[in-house]
Amino acid sequence: ALGVILYNQIPGTVISTPTLGAENIGLLIPTGIIPLEVATAWIPRLAAGETLTVKLLVDAIAEERETWNVISETKAGDPDKVIMLGAHLDSVLAGPGINDDGSGTAALLELMGSVKKYRGFPHKIRFAWWAAEEAGLIGSTYYAEHLSEAEADKIKFYFNYDMIGSPYPKFEISKSDNSGVGSELLDNFLTAAGKNVTYGEFDGRSDYVGFSELGIPIATLFTGEGENDPCYHQACDNLDNINWDAITINTKAAANALGTLALSLDGVPA
Ligand code: PHE
Ligand code: ZN
Ligand code: ZN
Ligand code: ZN
Repeated sequence: ALGVILYNQIPGTVISTPTLGAENIGLLIPTGIIPLEVATAWIPRLAAGETLTVKLLVDAIAEERETWNVISETKAGDPDKVIMLGAHLDSVLAGPGINDDGSGTAALLELMGSVKKYRGFPHKIRFAWWAAEEAGLIGSTYYAEHLSEAEADKIKFYFNYDMIGSPYPKFEISKSDNSGVGSELLDNFLTAAGKNVTYGEFDGRSDYVGFSELGIPIATLFTGEGENDPCYHQACDNLDNINWDAITINTKAAANALGTLALSLDGVPA
């Protein structure tokens, strides 16, 4: 049987044509989930631009699994002033997810290794490798929703790194209104490195959402999908799908912003 790639495989999830769009017709793959005749019937309708809302009945194949966020923080540093960073550990079923989000995962590992060598930061640094982002931001939302008000207040900034090594990268920052110097540090570093920094809107599609709900200052880097990453959510999102210059400069920008805020929160609105 042929099927269509399922982006959010949650039983009963409703996905509409922006996800299952005509541009995805080339992505028909064997999954055994959607019968061939159904998938085939969609093709001309999607190609004709018709809007289909599809209720996926995936209960039969969905299985429950336990999964974990991995969280690590510096021992030293004021526990009342936490700088937090996140990237997601999971990928879609269709592929290995090296740019999405092995790139952010690797960046955080690199930053953790550097942070361990320097014990002089007055603020605490907390790394989060999130579970189940692709299934609907499950790990990060769980974490944010289970923080007490006191714990949430201690998180002074959240950086989200989801897809920072796209093969044809843009250098896009998104930020909360109260991001202050946090996003400016990323911008200044990338601009000084000769990158053309652009700004995107928060569209609710990555692990900053739970932090946004709490009003925590946020900045994110994103190098793009589509023309920026033709292998987005596909089997070819493998090690060849990384622009090494982009992931390196973005990781350095992230390090610069992290180190600066871990020393001083000057310029970050309270
Ligand atoms: N979070 C999306 C995904 O994992 C991709 C994305 C990253 C979208 C950043 C917007 C901003 O598929
Ligand atoms: Zn993804
Ligand atoms: Zn992602
Ligand atoms: Zn301080």
